[in-house]
Amino acid sequence: MTELSKLSAPERAALTQQLEQRYNAFKAQGLKLDMTRGKPSSEQLDLASKLTVVLAENDYKGSDGSDGRNYGGLDGLPEMKAIFADLLGAPAAQVVVGGASSLTLMHDTVVRALLHGVPGSSAPWGRGPVKFICPAPGYDRHFAICEHHGIEMLTVGLNDDGPDMAEVERLVASDPAIKGMWCVPKYSNPTGTTYSESVVKRLAAMKTAAPDFRLLWDNAYAVHDLYAEGDKLANVLTACAEAGNADRALVFASTSKISFAGAGVAALASSPANIADVKRHSSIQTIGPDKLNQLRHVRFFKDYAGVLQHMTRHAELLRPKFEAVTEAFAKDLDGKGVASWTKPRGGYFISLDTLDGCASEVVRLADSAGVKLTAAGATFPRGKDPRDRNIRIAPSMPPLGQVKIAMEIVAVCVLLASLKKLGA
Ligand SMILES: Cc1ncc(COP(=O)(O)O)c(C=O)c1O
Repeated sequence: MTELSKLSAPERAALTQQLEQRYNAFKAQGLKLDMTRGKPSSEQLDLASKLTVVLAENDYKGSDGSDGRNYGGLDGLPEMKAIFADLLGAPAAQVVVGGASSLTLMHDTVVRALLHGVPGSSAPWGRGPVKFICPAPGYDRHFAICEHHGIEMLTVGLNDDGPDMAEVERLVASDPAIKGMWCVPKYSNPTGTTYSESVVKRLAAMKTAAPDFRLLWDNAYAVHDLYAEGDKLANVLTACAEAGNADRALVFASTSKISFAGAGVAALASSPANIADVKRHSSIQTIGPDKLNQLRHVRFFKDYAGVLQHMTRHAELLRPKFEAVTEAFAKDLDGKGVASWTKPRGGYFISLDTLDGCASEVVRLADSAGVKLTAAGATFPRGKDPRDRNIRIAPSMPPLGQVKIAMEIVAVCVLLASLKKLGA
């Protein structure tokens, strides 16, 4: 394989002509392939179809005797809390089960802090300027929460073992306006990165100028391993407690990509002080969550082992799609010196880096050939990738055959955009 930059001008021109033929042949097929959405496929959703019928007519009571059809049970049914306790890595007493969306829990956590502060705050966060550390590439909806509520975002790089800790430590040590940091610590969206134990410990122990600094620990992909041997993530709540910062982390997850997206169950776990604070606020917000949905989930999964078992079936459906992406890229792009991509062992995304300044062009070319990709820049705060090189690939939703064609087209687009950039 020759790096494209080492080819002579006539060699590049010939290669461009060849690739344009391939590209035009794809274009002529009038394809309509959508690789933008990090949603479960309908085959994955079918795995949990019994959830809709699992409750018998007289099956509405929780193990505490509460009637799932009525108000109450603010922090969740005991058996649902027990499942999330294992999933989130906290005692059940430190778990609050919410509605269907972890993003809602995160959003509300931020808004409450802006309006009321958190345990340890001397004033509501919103009284002064508020800044969040945003490892990038990252999850666009985290950044949207900040943007929507006027929180300044400080981008830090995401390395193979997690955020650039030297930079994070430098920033939080000196600026008391830095109140929070977004973290997707396992199979991060979109790179698939899992934070190392050393990174987790440094985040837990680092000195922050703000006494009420919080890690918003979005463990959305806690059990979403693609292979039998999954990545191991250190327990952030334990690490924070051991470092003397017990209140630092708020841990979120949901069953959106375990049972049904948008019709699952979400939960958060944290220190006793934070959990008391969450309950104080949520008792104003609601008279109780949907306990029948919790009961359905408990009957279907039974326990945490049941959740893990179920996830092996998701992995069987997802693994070939992930491998199709990396194989297509390897076939056309390996050794060309124009792109690198992640090979995650779990989660929902693969992250593709092109040459600087090429991502928007790749997305445009792919679109013209019938392949919709997530907008270039979406993985960075304010939708602006300073190097215009990152593209998020979401292979879960389309059928395997479509993933294969779409990725071959994307690889051809990467080559064409790179040749243009190199001045072919
Ligand atoms: C990192 C991350 N967090 C949260 C969510 C959404 O979670 P929920 O459906 O529980 O709101 C997603 C969905 O793509 C995600 O990628």
